[in-house]
Amino acid sequence: MKIAMIASEAAPYVKTGGLGDVMQALPGEIAKQKGNEVVLILPLYKKLKEGSTFELEELGNFTMDLAWRKSYVGIYRLKSRKKKLRVYFIDNNYYFGGRNTVYGDFDDGERFAYFSKAALAALYYLDFKPDVLHCHDWQAAMAVVYSKALYRSLWPETKTVFTIHNVEYQGWADASFFDNTLALPEEFRSTMTFDGAMNMMKGAIVSADMVSTVSRTYAQELCYPYYAHRLDDILRSNRLCGIVNGIDTTVYDPETDPALKHHFSASAMDGKKACKLALQQEMGLDIRSDAPILAMVTRLAGHKGIDLLCYISQRLVEKNIQLVIVGTGEKQYEYALSLLAKENPGKVAVRLAFDPALASRVYAGADLYLMPSKSEPCGLSQLIAMRYGTVPVVAATGGLKDTVAPYNPESGEGRGFTFCSYNGEDFLDAVERAVEMYHKDPEGFRALSRRDMEADFSWRLPAGEYMRLYEELLAE
Ligand code: GLC
Repeated sequence: MKIAMIASEAAPYVKTGGLGDVMQALPGEIAKQKGNEVVLILPLYKKLKEGSTFELEELGNFTMDLAWRKSYVGIYRLKSRKKKLRVYFIDNNYYFGGRNTVYGDFDDGERFAYFSKAALAALYYLDFKPDVLHCHDWQAAMAVVYSKALYRSLWPETKTVFTIHNVEYQGWADASFFDNTLALPEEFRSTMTFDGAMNMMKGAIVSADMVSTVSRTYAQELCYPYYAHRLDDILRSNRLCGIVNGIDTTVYDPETDPALKHHFSASAMDGKKACKLALQQEMGLDIRSDAPILAMVTRLAGHKGIDLLCYISQRLVEKNIQLVIVGTGEKQYEYALSLLAKENPGKVAVRLAFDPALASRVYAGADLYLMPSKSEPCGLSQLIAMRYGTVPVVAATGGLKDTVAPYNPESGEGRGFTFCSYNGEDFLDAVERAVEMYHKDPEGFRALSRRDMEADFSWRLPAGEYMRLYEELLAE
């Protein structure tokens, strides 16, 4: 099967969040399956173009229309021996190569409409006729719509899949965007229009052969206004399925992770104790083994539940615990958490940083991992935490609900501690249950942590589900 994946980020080339992790692992895992050929198409951002360590080769270029514009499209390819997975980059200095931003510019709508259209043109140029065109999030949404509008006769058999990693970001633009930038055939005006404006994610949802999202529970939640950021009606009336993400278990491996000084596995846990001690030293916490370290590595954004954390923080620090927080984000949270650390030296440590190596050391050295998200399409941190033997305390929403079954003290089953309704009291209650187990049943706690490490969170199963989805679509 020939599969083309289109996305705005993929580690290790460019990553700002979970999408980058998914696009690092999923294409490769799909390419491993017999008979598959996968291409991944990304924008050639400035950082990649200038001074990157990746070796790229230029394959060609052409001019493409974007409404009245004549835009340059350059195609680069990563030099690699992997023939079944090819990574291509779309080069355009005006949109990507000449500025430092990945997202957040005034013309993001135009930039990613250009990218989506250019990615399809590149596939055509490369003579790669996809059986499945798999586009991720709003930045690649227009590739689904353009493929229906412009490539139907060239690729009549091609099926399209659109995956929503986060419905909060939809690619809105005003109504003039249709003529001024998209320049689609007139019949697509209603496809693109939502509430009197243009909405690229909506366009992809109604045009794709299948819409998927990154957990089963989030797929159900997306049918409700509370979660869907206005797209619930549209999502209810289109085909939608949920496939839970995996993590790259070779990248996230406590036995080999280069960011760690001490390594460990489910059958040899001593290294984890050493990692805890090292984390206390690195973060300036008191050196002690009797208090559990509670940790968060996160964007400091409201929907990640930082407001709940701030709300319970005074009661939390009265307990026999230590708290480590790593992340950047909204100023009021940066301020509140920095203050908490200042008032509780040796007990609370906060680093306002995006630092993947430090993140690894936190996952490895902590005992409990907090994720009180208001909504969470999938969430990867809880999976990484479990892989590193750190027991999660999570809100039972989206992918957190699908991956962290509540611990049952009677049967000993489950993977962590959960709470159902989004409020500080219930969050605190879940933390208290976890901390109590840590203190009162250390043997049971260690067994839980070991079981979490042994769970299979690799991409093997999810990739199989995507393959079944592709096969079903192609059989229709
Ligand atoms: C987004 C979501 C996150 C998910 C990730 C990868 O960042 O917020 O929950 O894990 O995408 O799909």
